[in-house]
Amino acid sequence: MTTQPQVITIVPAASPCSGAPSVQSQPTPMRDRCGDLKNYWYAAAQAADVDARKPLSVVIMETRIVLWRNAQGEPVALRDRCLHRNTFLSPGDITEQGIKCPYHGWTFDEQGACVNVPSEGENGKAYPNRKVESFPAQEAYGLVWVWMGGGQPDPQRAPFPMPHYQEKGWNTYYMKTHFDNGVTSLVENFMDVPHTVFVHKGWFRDRKKLKVDSTVERTDSSVLVTYHAQDAIGFTERVLNPKGLPMQHTDKFYMPNNTRVDYIYGEDERGFVITSTCTPINDHQTTVFTLISYKFGWANALFRTFLPWYTRQVIQQDVEIMANQGRSFKEQAPDFKSTPADTLHVFIESLREHAERDGKDESGRPVPKPRPMTRDVVFWI
Ligand code: FES
Ligand SMILES: [Fe+2]
Repeated sequence: MTTQPQVITIVPAASPCSGAPSVQSQPTPMRDRCGDLKNYWYAAAQAADVDARKPLSVVIMETRIVLWRNAQGEPVALRDRCLHRNTFLSPGDITEQGIKCPYHGWTFDEQGACVNVPSEGENGKAYPNRKVESFPAQEAYGLVWVWMGGGQPDPQRAPFPMPHYQEKGWNTYYMKTHFDNGVTSLVENFMDVPHTVFVHKGWFRDRKKLKVDSTVERTDSSVLVTYHAQDAIGFTERVLNPKGLPMQHTDKFYMPNNTRVDYIYGEDERGFVITSTCTPINDHQTTVFTLISYKFGWANALFRTFLPWYTRQVIQQDVEIMANQGRSFKEQAPDFKSTPADTLHVFIESLREHAERDGKDESGRPVPKPRPMTRDVVFWI
């Protein structure tokens, strides 16, 4: 005969007198309800913003993380919440032992272990079994990336390769932009050609009632679009392409949060690549790191001052239209109507939704992955 263990349930006090917040009302953080979407490296910061003296606090998937560099210069990432009384650790100091909480001085090493409680001894006392959650972190392509999946990173899933970063002949720079919308909307926006003649009218492309033939391919982890029309990027065309070489325009989405837009002239002779990696703060806010890579030979020097200004204006137009759509989603959940011109949007949504639901339907039964397929899509701009 087995005896049932006695279960004692402690309901945390929620009275206003105690001052303790009710834990019952806390919603599940995004990280714990986004299925396979968490099992990737997410860009947390530009490498130059993470240093050895001043901790940096970032929020990824509703999880606050503190970043700094250890004595070897490697990035360290811990949950930004002290074990003791839950103060944010990030306003604290970095010491030889680790990060020291600004409230009572508990100190946590790179692995998150509590190495010193000052109030427990003349020189404090270690409680190595008390651990703040630590996250695998690494620097690549000028960014610091954090593995959000818990446990060890999947070796098949490296940080997204940001193209032409520090490559000979190419100039690159990053733009960090806050958007008031979620990742799915943003990656669709960055791939979306039809909006350019409205949102970026006069800046990037004007409506010319031009027919565009494209091919849209969905693989098991990407959506790849090739355009078969002669395209031109606004007023810059004559400077970008003095020889009038044919331009190849491709837009690519890579799971779960990356887009890459290429405008390449001739056989990679000149070109312009815009790569964005989107880091969700929550369902309605996202930090986007955009790498602008360009190769225009002698004209690179001309572009160095002009291009950062120009790209900031264009991105700002997207910030505004994305904030508009984001406000609409807050009032009412998305309910889209699509036409054939929206094929790439539908493909992106299918891949992200499947991952977000961990490949299962509402009752937990496995759902097959969206099938790879290719569609010819014609639209007008
Ligand atoms: S809250 Fe961090 S040491 Fe007390
Ligand atoms: Fe745009």
